[in-house]
Amino acid sequence: MSDFRAAAEELRERLRRWSAEYYQEDSPSVSDSEFDRTLLALRALEEAHPELMTADSPTQRVGAAPLKGFDPVTHRLPMLSLDNAFSGDDLVDFDRRVRERLGVPAVRYVCEPKLDGIAVSIVWEEGELVLAATRGDGQTGEGITHNVRSIESVPLRLEGSDYPAHLEVRGEVYMPRAGFDLFNRRALAEGGKPFVNPRNAAAGSLRQLDSSITRRRPLAFCAYALGFWEGGARSFASHSEAMAKLSEWGIPISDYGRTVESIEGCEAYYQELALARQDLSFDIDGIVFKVDAFALQEALGSVSRAPRWAIARKFPAQEEMTVLREVEFQVGRTGAVTPVARLDPVFVGGVTVSNATLHNADEIERLGLMTGDTVVIRRAGDVIPQVVAVVEERRPEAAASIIFPGHCPACATALAREPGEAVWRCEAGLVCPAQQRAAIAHFVSRRAMDIDGLGEKIIDQLIELNLVATVADLYTLEAHTLAELERFGEKSAENLVAAIAKSRETSLARFIYALGIREVGETTARQLATYFGNLESLIGATPEQLQDVEDVGPIVAQHVVHFFGEPANVRTINGLLGRGVRWPVPLQDEGNLPLAGQSWVVTGKLESLSRDDAESALRALGAKVSGSVSGKTTAVVAGPGAGSKLKKAQSLKVEVIDESEFLSRLEAWQV
Ligand code: IVH
Repeated sequence: MSDFRAAAEELRERLRRWSAEYYQEDSPSVSDSEFDRTLLALRALEEAHPELMTADSPTQRVGAAPLKGFDPVTHRLPMLSLDNAFSGDDLVDFDRRVRERLGVPAVRYVCEPKLDGIAVSIVWEEGELVLAATRGDGQTGEGITHNVRSIESVPLRLEGSDYPAHLEVRGEVYMPRAGFDLFNRRALAEGGKPFVNPRNAAAGSLRQLDSSITRRRPLAFCAYALGFWEGGARSFASHSEAMAKLSEWGIPISDYGRTVESIEGCEAYYQELALARQDLSFDIDGIVFKVDAFALQEALGSVSRAPRWAIARKFPAQEEMTVLREVEFQVGRTGAVTPVARLDPVFVGGVTVSNATLHNADEIERLGLMTGDTVVIRRAGDVIPQVVAVVEERRPEAAASIIFPGHCPACATALAREPGEAVWRCEAGLVCPAQQRAAIAHFVSRRAMDIDGLGEKIIDQLIELNLVATVADLYTLEAHTLAELERFGEKSAENLVAAIAKSRETSLARFIYALGIREVGETTARQLATYFGNLESLIGATPEQLQDVEDVGPIVAQHVVHFFGEPANVRTINGLLGRGVRWPVPLQDEGNLPLAGQSWVVTGKLESLSRDDAESALRALGAKVSGSVSGKTTAVVAGPGAGSKLKKAQSLKVEVIDESEFLSRLEAWQV
């Protein structure tokens, strides 16, 4: 028995401390969900052992005591909180309870986003804003009239004339994401401390004794309920009607509010907003569902801290805290060294996360990160998990600085960083086993050569046993060799060889992408393939020609030229082609176009068009354009100043035409 008492007291102490951190210091050391879980645990304990309950237990309070320095404001009606639902089933249960109490078959609900800011009450007397207060403990809050007045979207005077003489409105003060990002960037630039999230930023900004500080914070307000009101001719039948009226009087309400005729509509709304969530301009942490009709709200009434007529369905938390165990430095395909955080596994954004990218050395410094630190992990939508902040208050004594390596962790080559770049790189190329492995993993990936069954562990084995050094070696693998290896049986060895064989038939775009040229992603690869039509032209392309391709700028062009200028890469490409990798020649160029199958060279200076334009025109007509003259060259366009290419053409008896002849032929071809 005394064990339970001690456990309950321990939970209460913890919750009180966290509550103070959250409400008074705006600097929580635990996540919301950890707080919620602990509160639920305490509530369960107190319900099972009612004799352990104390009057000041955190389960009996909504928020925390007012801060010193602000006048206390007693709410005319208590500011309630909301019960939470964590699943569709919880929501169905809520609807069942509501319908049973009311004895009706279906209920109309209002659905609204649950804004992640802080609750305030604002009072207008005869249309003039006279008072604003925080929720505080639900009975008494802190007077923050001067601060709320400084929020741009809150009307100091109501519009229209049919508002009640005394009107109290409740709503959320929040900081839109754009304002939050801007504020944090500014704070960092000025050497200040950034806020962990928009909610803390809103809370911290509102709780300023000096309202000129609040005024500079990008806060916004959104109304979500009526408080106490009296006087005037108006009355309201429903929440939706009241909200529409508030909006007419100039008070901001949610753009996303919607009424639905039954609980199914609530579920559909939840799913819709869950998808739209990451694109909203502000943070929301769930959806609030309210019985629309005020008569029904009244009939349902409230329990101690929350109304029976409303519920908040929370989204899975997008932020959680966990501990950074160590930082590993991974070498990618292009030699870029990326620090990766190894974390105590934590459930966030609907999945268990145990790794998060730290991007680069600057990011580690920006975060002020040390191993052993408690960190805030964010995983929103499909975005990869990020470390967004360090909880310095929780830094253990044994925390250690993170030292970025000076040498490649895979091959020990000294790392280099180009001026202005954030990334350190190993420039050893395919000599570095890590880059070898990453190059192969990229080559076989689904959107590249699409070879199934070649996971990283198998690639490591193939490299270690010297069976594969470059991607071209994959096409020499035989089933009986593979069958001997770990992780292989006869069948899986045969399957892999078959998958490799099948990948020989590919497209030029996939092949270019699979090569893993820096900055050449799928789209650029496709554009290069369409523009050049064949690999030889791409390999021979100058930086200028490359820049004629859509989206290719000087940097990408430089990477492409550099890649094909590397003899090892050309050897690998020849190996691949020699082992049967191929793709269909683009259909549209074949046959129909006047210069299909021909090979042209342009040399010397042209008068009326640039050499690039001449070459583009030839390509558009189906010709291949080459940089050198050979026996296969169909014709050479030579302008003044043409030198060795002209001589070679003459010696090989290749047709040579001048600019005016070229232009007249162009005209003829265009028809
Ligand atoms: S209605 C009596 N509607 O969530 C009902 N609350 O966890 C009062 N919140 O204290 C609340 N968006 O600060 C309501 N559309 C919304 C809301 C909302 C955010 C906050 C509010 C409340 C807390 C409850």
